[in-house]
Amino acid sequence: MKIYIRNIVLLSIAISFALLYSCKKDDEDNTPPVHETTPYNFVVPQGFPTNLNIPTDNPITMEGVELGRYLFYDGRLSGRDDADSLMSCATCHLQSAAFEIGPNHPKYTDGHPYGLTGIKTPHFPLPLFNLVWNNEGYLWNGFISKENTALGIPSYGIPAEPQYHLTNIESLVWMGIVAKHEIHGTIEMTERMIRSIDMYPPLFEKAFGDRQINIDRISKSIAQFIRTITSSDSKFDKYLRGEENLSPAENRGYVLFQTEEGADCFHCHGSLGNPLMTTNQFYNNAKDTVFDDPRDRYGVTKNPIDHGAYKATTLRNIELTGPYMHDGRFKTLDEVIDFYSEGLVYSEYAHPLMEKLRPPYGRGAELNPGQKADLKAFLLSLTDETLLTKEEYSNPF
Ligand code: HEC
Ligand code: HEC
Repeated sequence: MKIYIRNIVLLSIAISFALLYSCKKDDEDNTPPVHETTPYNFVVPQGFPTNLNIPTDNPITMEGVELGRYLFYDGRLSGRDDADSLMSCATCHLQSAAFEIGPNHPKYTDGHPYGLTGIKTPHFPLPLFNLVWNNEGYLWNGFISKENTALGIPSYGIPAEPQYHLTNIESLVWMGIVAKHEIHGTIEMTERMIRSIDMYPPLFEKAFGDRQINIDRISKSIAQFIRTITSSDSKFDKYLRGEENLSPAENRGYVLFQTEEGADCFHCHGSLGNPLMTTNQFYNNAKDTVFDDPRDRYGVTKNPIDHGAYKATTLRNIELTGPYMHDGRFKTLDEVIDFYSEGLVYSEYAHPLMEKLRPPYGRGAELNPGQKADLKAFLLSLTDETLLTKEEYSNPF
């Protein structure tokens, strides 16, 4: 059988050469068509970092983004096409909720999604915007990062093979396809399904030069689309650009956010000089005394200081992405503010930047009701309507 296949391969190579040669003879100047794509003009918003996480083997092109947008929203990415088995990235990453689930999802009403087999995701979702500025690792624990040399995750059904790298947004595409708490399909099923849909071969040809459809191209194009999703147009951004004023309450909240004497949030969540509103780093923010989640930052680094540590997520669009924390323990922003005000609990793993654990405090920033309202007003000024309504990010079907 093997020899038979090899002969066929050799034969077809020979035929290809013969054809190529005969064409050449007919028309000596006939150079093979060059595949041309249009580079995506990524505009770095004023004041944003210029260090973009775009892998050299997957530059962003207009054609790649167009294809990726369709795939991101296409429920048949699950590899099935019956109504009950449709699932795409947009099932759990909704534009109306800053590409998160949010508290108002029609199906996942508690904000905690589950996959096609009904198994809940180990953590609550993360929003998908400004990810092109994340060079520190994706997911709550940063497992997917450029430094990651691990191959495969048997518990996810992900084979330990080099082509299934675990280093960037591309990896999260096929992880979503095979993970048992998400699509729980197979790469083959998804490839077969996408190949069978008439609209796709021409789109793959535009993006990649020929009609071949495979998981590498599926994940590259979706990753390109995700890298174009940016948020830089909240009221706070307009204030920083000198286009709009903050209200007195928002302004007071900003000062609280931004000062150590105040609520002391900026060390981990950015702001002055860091418009991402996250450092993209991992901290234990003093919620617990017992740490037994195998998917915390310690699960990745095995460094004892990382027990109970997670990504300090961006606070942009935070109004829309509750419930809060990796385990969704706080339903509202008021609960989060109460926690940072008087709910901190000491453990030896609490990060040193949780300064309000130290005397004369101990329980938190101890804000009065007026200060809590001000801090909340500031957090609400981080909502970006442009992100929520921008046509280029929306469902193209
Ligand atoms: C069933 C719901 C679900 C589906 C479907 C889903 N995701 Fe997610 N996504 C999540 C959850 C939950 C997380 C957070 C996981 C964690 O860190 O533990 C996440 C995290 C991510 C992140 C990391 C964001 C960051 O800031 O680190 C990316 C990127 C992502 N998803 C992309 C995708 C893509 C691409 C698809 C489609 C192939 C997809 N997701 C489908 C639930 C889902
Ligand atoms: C020592 C670093 C640190 C400081 C200081 C800090 N945070 Fe956080 N914050 C985190 C981490 C880490 C998380 C995620 C923890 C988790 O999911 O378990 C988080 C989560 C949050 C969330 C929920 C995010 C989400 O997507 O669910 C909000 C809201 C928040 N912080 C607001 C604040 C505010 C307001 C302050 C100031 C009062 C503050 N933080 C101070 C590290 C910090």
